[in-house]
Amino acid sequence: MSFQIPRGLFDILPFGVNKKFTTALWQYVENIIKKIAKDYNFKEIRTPIFERTELFVRTSGEASDIVNKEMYTFLDKSKRSMTLRPEGTAPFIRAFVENNLANFSYPLKFYYIEPMFRYDRPQKGRYRQHHQFGVEYLGNTSYYQDAEVIDLLMQFYKRLQLKNLTLHINSVGDTESRENFKKVLKKFLQNHLKNLSKESQKRFFKNPLRILDSKDPEDQKILKKAPSILDHLNSPSKKYFESLCSVLQKQNIPFNINKNLVRGLDYYTHSVFEITQENLGSQNSLGGGGRYDGLVKNLKGPDLSGIGFGTGIERVIETMVTQNIPIEKDSLFIIFLPLCKKAEKISFEISTKLRHLQIQTEVLFNIKKIQKGLQKASALDARYAVILGEEEIQSKQWIIKNMEQRLQETIDEKNIIAHITTLWEDYAKI
Ligand code: HAM
Repeated sequence: MSFQIPRGLFDILPFGVNKKFTTALWQYVENIIKKIAKDYNFKEIRTPIFERTELFVRTSGEASDIVNKEMYTFLDKSKRSMTLRPEGTAPFIRAFVENNLANFSYPLKFYYIEPMFRYDRPQKGRYRQHHQFGVEYLGNTSYYQDAEVIDLLMQFYKRLQLKNLTLHINSVGDTESRENFKKVLKKFLQNHLKNLSKESQKRFFKNPLRILDSKDPEDQKILKKAPSILDHLNSPSKKYFESLCSVLQKQNIPFNINKNLVRGLDYYTHSVFEITQENLGSQNSLGGGGRYDGLVKNLKGPDLSGIGFGTGIERVIETMVTQNIPIEKDSLFIIFLPLCKKAEKISFEISTKLRHLQIQTEVLFNIKKIQKGLQKASALDARYAVILGEEEIQSKQWIIKNMEQRLQETIDEKNIIAHITTLWEDYAKI
């Protein structure tokens, strides 16, 4: 019996037919994440892959798609309901509160690179396991925090050289504004209820705001005339949103105010944002986030507000591939090509010494002909090859070939490690 990977999942491999999800691309993106997180002083957190189901129900909301349709939920052997993490904000806050992190450091800025699990129909850009780079910034409400988080996300895409992105922003206001607007929206939608999609009809009763981001073409026609939440914000919410827009303008971050952007999770308050990318097709959201006042308190933590985002690494990589963004090739520094048994023994010993000196080294065993060895060295993109046969062992004069320049030099056996170390220092500088 042969096994196949379950639908909606994929392997990340160093080479093979799947050019999209190569380890090299993945590591390249992860390195950029680590660097940018350091530049903005966000600290990494890692939480477990599953949590108690109730955590997600309480935070994402019972009417959200995640809770309603997409969770991987199971009973453990003690019949407790557990769920594979569908998103990163709730587990982060659970860990933050449980470990009293507010007492240890300030400012409270965290990031994660984690797999998430959502049961949905797989398609381009939509997987059952996806990975997110997310950040969460807790603290007293200040629109500068919102601006910093949005700037970080846009800089991340910029460092990756992604093009054709649009930043959409909106405000869902505070609780008072939202409750007032819900009434106004319901009044408007009431007259169109029959013509709304089945999904939106259900949402009308459970969570009418979510109808605003329906993708159904008929719904969208109706929504063109829908009232805007921005006209129904109370004065503090309005002021907050205007201040954020003005900071973004001053920072030269272009944005589009999208009055129908509400996002699919219940915990958002005030600012919400999403970045779309035109090459991604129907799953065009590259990343999104927003402010969540009240969520930390709701999970029995201190009364802290917060703002964060999550961006899907798969979608980022798919955009890089579609836009032909080059990354450094995964190369090899030095490879030993021993041509006899004795040379294999010597090559093994020297390469071990080099590795202990933290020099990237490979040995190819069982190569009968030098030409074959050199072909393999080229395929591995090796910078140098050491050719070692009976003759070189006898004369104690080893051959080191610069594969790129097609030049070779002869080095006395006793100087070999020192010579390779010098070459390595030059190579590592580039
Ligand atoms: P989200 O919008 O549900 O937000 O997901 C964030 C990003 O994850 C999306 O923009 C998309 O790039 C990616 N994504 C989501 N689902 C899938 C999927 N099935 N396959 C591939 N990629 C996917 C959140 O999860 C919030 N926790 C973000 C946040 C953090 N808000 C505040 N802090």
